[in-house]
Amino acid sequence: MEYDPLDPQPTPDDKAAEGALRPSKLSEFGGQPRVSEQLSLVIEAARKRGGAPEHVLLSGPPGLGKTTLAMIMASELEAPIRITSGPAIQHAGDLAAILSGLTEGEVFFLDEIHRMARPAEEMLYLAMEDFRVDVVVGKGPGATAIPLEIPPFTLVGATTRAGLLPSPLRDRFGFTAQLDYYEVDDLAKIVMRSAKLLGIDASAQVAHEIASRSRGTPRIANRLLRRARDFAEVRAGGKLDVATAKAALDLYEIDPLGLDRLDRAVLNAICVKFGGGPVGLSTLAISVSEEAETIEEVAEPFLVRLGFLIRTPRGRMATPAAFEHLGLKPPRDANPSLFG
Ligand SMILES: Nc1ncnc2c1ncn2[C@@H]1O[C@H](COP(=O)(O)OP(=O)(O)OP(=O)(O)O)[C@@H](O)[C@H]1O
Ligand SMILES: [Mg+2]
Repeated sequence: MEYDPLDPQPTPDDKAAEGALRPSKLSEFGGQPRVSEQLSLVIEAARKRGGAPEHVLLSGPPGLGKTTLAMIMASELEAPIRITSGPAIQHAGDLAAILSGLTEGEVFFLDEIHRMARPAEEMLYLAMEDFRVDVVVGKGPGATAIPLEIPPFTLVGATTRAGLLPSPLRDRFGFTAQLDYYEVDDLAKIVMRSAKLLGIDASAQVAHEIASRSRGTPRIANRLLRRARDFAEVRAGGKLDVATAKAALDLYEIDPLGLDRLDRAVLNAICVKFGGGPVGLSTLAISVSEEAETIEEVAEPFLVRLGFLIRTPRGRMATPAAFEHLGLKPPRDANPSLFG
């Protein structure tokens, strides 16, 4: 796919820039006031008791700060962190090797936890609950499991799809933080902070303009800030004012509500090809040549939040607001329940 400035998945360019912009203390983590407060309690309580906090699950769409929060937890706890991700754990043995190497109080960050191999999941249950792994020695009928104690650690799991986690796994987390899209004002503050760190002179209005088109996502906000800076350097003698920011964002085809190409393609397909819906996810995915998973994880949550799309048992439907946003006339007879 060509470069899409609103894709919440990190590009190599983002990854390089994100290290420098990632807040390392909870007090620097803007927005998400509820999650912030909950996490600070978990951390504070653990500090008082002097032990490892309970396991924490971080869930929410890409780019909202899950990895950032996992790292903040370790840094606030002054604990080492061990990082891996679900797809890297193909066999229970991969997990056993990591678990048996953990030190007391270590934060074990398991990203994309929903993509871990099933046999490893069972091992994780035991480790989370009893701080024990059963190491299997030998093969076939002669195989024996030797229990190995591991020091108390804190698992921080991250997932964009909490719904895909089997409930025994979900139940073993002491606390689940559900991250949601950021308010524009909170995002504007994040943009101001990033601008300062990057040495960009940006006013509050510029930050607001960028924030309002970033679909509630800090990763996108930081990326659009860098694109606006490029534009200012090349076309505006280095000065990033509101007009320059707007021109830059328009150049990248970013809609004032922050809809990107995929969002618009999805809405357009539902409204035009399927007369407003309902249409099933897989049919929709094929019609916009995108993975069903990407539509479900990336486009849908934001469109639902804007009130442009609703999920019904019969499929996805566009709302009158969606038709309006695309400059189309809603078909009054298509979805009487919605247009009544
Ligand atoms: N609350 C915040 N305050 C400041 N910056 C933030 C905040 N949340 C996220 N960021 C910035 O956004 C970038 C993306 O965040 P992060 O990598 O933590 O997202 P993620 O939820 O782990 O995404 P993914 O699902 O793709 O792994 C980070 O580099 C960080 O700079
Ligand atoms: Mg992450």
